[in-house]
Amino acid sequence: MADYVTVAQVDELPAGERLVVEINRKWVAVFNVGGEFYAVQDICSHDEGELAEGELHGCEIACPRHGARFDIRTGKVLSAPAFVDIPAFDVRVVDGLVQVATRKR
Ligand code: FES
Repeated sequence: MADYVTVAQVDELPAGERLVVEINRKWVAVFNVGGEFYAVQDICSHDEGELAEGELHGCEIACPRHGARFDIRTGKVLSAPAFVDIPAFDVRVVDGLVQVATRKR
């Protein structure tokens, strides 16, 4: 079973918001999209742009550097110039706390 780390209280990450946390010395972007929480590596697979600063449309985030898009539910790459998926992490809510798995799916 995966280990989880608490990253925020639910009310600290309202719908439409995101935050970046360090888990096991890796940056992870955590999103609240309409009450659902998702987490992906905060490093674009194209040239290491910081994805969390990108525009989010539904569950698609566009890298602010060159525009590659990823699905934050799965980490799947959706458009060039990136061609490699990024790691996605399970997220759960326990007792009002948002917790992210310490290992990628
Ligand atoms: S660094 Fe993300 S598209 Fe280039």
